[in-house]
Parts: sequence; structure tokens; C-alpha cells
Amino acid sequence: MGLVQTANLREGMVLAGDVLDTSGRLLIARGTELTPRGIRVLKMWGVIEADVEGVGDEEGGSGLGPDLDPDFVAAAERKARALLPYTNIDHPAGKALYRLCVARLARGKTDPETVARWSRPEEYHPDNTDEGKVRIPVNIVKAVGDSIPLSTLPDVFHQVNEVLLRPSSSAQEIAEVIEKDTNLSARILRIVNSAFYNFPSRIDKISRAVTIMGTRQMATLASGINCLKIFQMIPSRVVDMKSFWEHSLLCGLGARLLGGYKNIQNTERLFVAGMIHDMGLLALYNRLPDVACLIIEKARSEFRPLHEVEKEVLGLDHAELAHILMKRWRFPLSLETIIRYHHSPLRSPNTLEAAIVHLADMIAIAAGSGFSGERRVPPLEAEVWDLLGISPCTIPVVADQALRQLDEIFHYFLYDAP
Ligand SMILES: [Fe+2]
Ligand SMILES: [Fe+2]
Repeated sequence: MGLVQTANLREGMVLAGDVLDTSGRLLIARGTELTPRGIRVLKMWGVIEADVEGVGDEEGGSGLGPDLDPDFVAAAERKARALLPYTNIDHPAGKALYRLCVARLARGKTDPETVARWSRPEEYHPDNTDEGKVRIPVNIVKAVGDSIPLSTLPDVFHQVNEVLLRPSSSAQEIAEVIEKDTNLSARILRIVNSAFYNFPSRIDKISRAVTIMGTRQMATLASGINCLKIFQMIPSRVVDMKSFWEHSLLCGLGARLLGGYKNIQNTERLFVAGMIHDMGLLALYNRLPDVACLIIEKARSEFRPLHEVEKEVLGLDHAELAHILMKRWRFPLSLETIIRYHHSPLRSPNTLEAAIVHLADMIAIAAGSGFSGERRVPPLEAEVWDLLGISPCTIPVVADQALRQLDEIFHYFLYDAP
């Protein structure tokens, strides 16, 4: 017997265990032979996986069907190992990430540009990656933070964060703040009217969107969009902007879905935290592009995670840098702590949400869509996985759903045009 993703269940398979819904109600009993109707019921109730007789866990949710050419699979496995050098693929979660990566590669669904980056040296001017020639500021926070003074950030940026900081903020307050910025309101209306939110009727006013979504959820979303707008431009010689936001949004979408599986109420916060989790990298890319190029190249050639090299070269990593900047810019503590610990969730005061963004980041990299500067899937600690308490089968399901949602919303988030 073994776990099989609901999407891969077939008629005639026999259940090796009872299948329950989220409230513990029996949906289908052990020993039942699956019928098309039974499979539909499981899908309808959002069941992710079922224990099936005569199937190994490896088959479950791998996404590797018998239709795939074995040579393709073998080549994909080689590439996937290069992408997951720190991952224990004997661990159930490591295995699920590895198989997600192999399946996407073997099916040609991985962005070829991203795949090429896994092995290719950077194409920077040699001066930019020569450690001796790049001047590293003594005080990184000063060099990055002081070049983005608070006074240059738009009013709406501060006002939205102020609303988020005050627990007593009203729906009317956030609606008024957003409505004052026509660009932000237009973008939010486009986003909430997209199929991603799937509201039953068209929303044509911010005040109505706030009523439907909730005050804090809307303020959190507005805060994330503000960040995206401020840091939208990245020097292309460091990383491609579109690719960077693809990774960031995919992480946000994955975090939102994982939050749903963990019954977290404010999944909007997870979405935004995922969307801006690498804000420290953005600040670095914008303000110190030569230093950023040096770090990216060093991480690539030494086979080390980006945040580890940052710590060595700069004395702090992008998560710590983001935390300092977010404090200065008066971001709400709930977002600050998730982002601060997205590479070390066990140290976070909010371990579960930091762990969710941590895993969503890995899923986004393993899916091979987008590029933040980090080539390889960061290490996953077994303790973090245990804390999450989710099934390995959730990984490909979340990746699949997040990738579909990304197609739906990418345009709305990144570009102003309707
Ligand atoms: Fe990161
Ligand atoms: Fe990331």
C-alpha cells in the first residue's frame, strides 16, 4: 500500500485505509474499490491523498506517468540532483521535492532559462565577480537603508502600514487610504476581480473589496503591492526582474495554499509574506548590484546557499537585512517575523508561518519557475518538516495549484496595463 495523490487515483484502485474529510467524517471506507463517483467525492471534499493497496509511496503523487521516456526521466533526475544538493532525498519531504523537480523537468515544464542557470556560470563582467575589486561597504545596513530614505517612499506606503500597525483600524480607514492612490486602487480592483479571488460578482469599489476581504487582509495585500511597486526595477545584470517576481509570487501563492491546509485564518498575510520574502535581496540588488553579483557567483561556484554566503561576505543575510529595513519602514511585526526567519523558521516566534514560507520557497525553486538569485533548493531541516505536520503528497499538489494561479495573476501584479 502507498499514498496516492487524489489527482492520480484511478477507477478500480482499492483503498488501504479509511478516507476522512477535514472534520473527521468518514467519506469512503477501507477496502472499497474506487469508482469514478468515489474519486469525484474525494476531489469535491478536497482530499489530497488516499492510501491505496498494491501501490508504493513512490508512485503516489510523483507526477511521473508511464508515458514518459525513461531517458528523459534519467536526464531529469541528474539535473534535479544538482538542484537539490542539500536535500536528503530519503526523507519523505526531500523525496517529494525531488520528485516534483524531476517530474517538471521530464515533462519539459521547467523554465529552460532557469534550468540553464543551475549549471551556467554568470555572465557578468569579470570585474563584477572579482572579490578583490568589488568594494564591500563596512556598514551594509547604512549603505542599503540610507539610500532608500523613508521620506522618498510614497505616502500611501506609510499610511497602509500605519493602518496595519493599529489593531483598531476600521474598514473605512483602509478604504480611504487606498482610494487616495488611484494607481494602487486600480491595481487592487483588477486583482480582486481576477479569477484568483473568484468573488461571485464584480467589485467596483475599494470599500466593497475591503468589506468582502476584511480590513487587515486588504491592508496586508496593499502593503505587499506597495513593496512590489517600489522595488519593481532590478538591474537586469543581477537578475531578471520578471523572473524574480515569478519566484516571489509563486512562493506567496504556495504559502497561501499551505496556510489553507493548516487552517490558518489570515492566509493573505502568508501570501504577502511569501511575495516579499526576498525583499532583502531586492534591496541589495538595487543598491549594491556589484556586491550582489559577487555573492551570487560565489554561492554558485562554491555550492553554498545564498544566505550563507551573504552572512560570510556581508555579516548579515538578506532575511536579516529585510528585517532591519522593515522595522525602519514600520511594517507590521507579523510580516517582519515571517520574513526575518524564512531561512531559519525554528528561531522565529511564529514558527509555523515562517516554516510555511520556508517550504513555499523550496517548492517554488524545485518547480523551476522564476529565479531570485538562489539556484538550489535551500536545506530543509527535519524538525521544520515535523512542525509543519503535512503530508509529502501536499507538495506536488501545492506546486501544481500555485503554478496555475501564477498564470492567472502574474500580469495583474506586475504590470499596470489592464
Ligand atoms: Fe530568501
Ligand atoms: Fe526565495
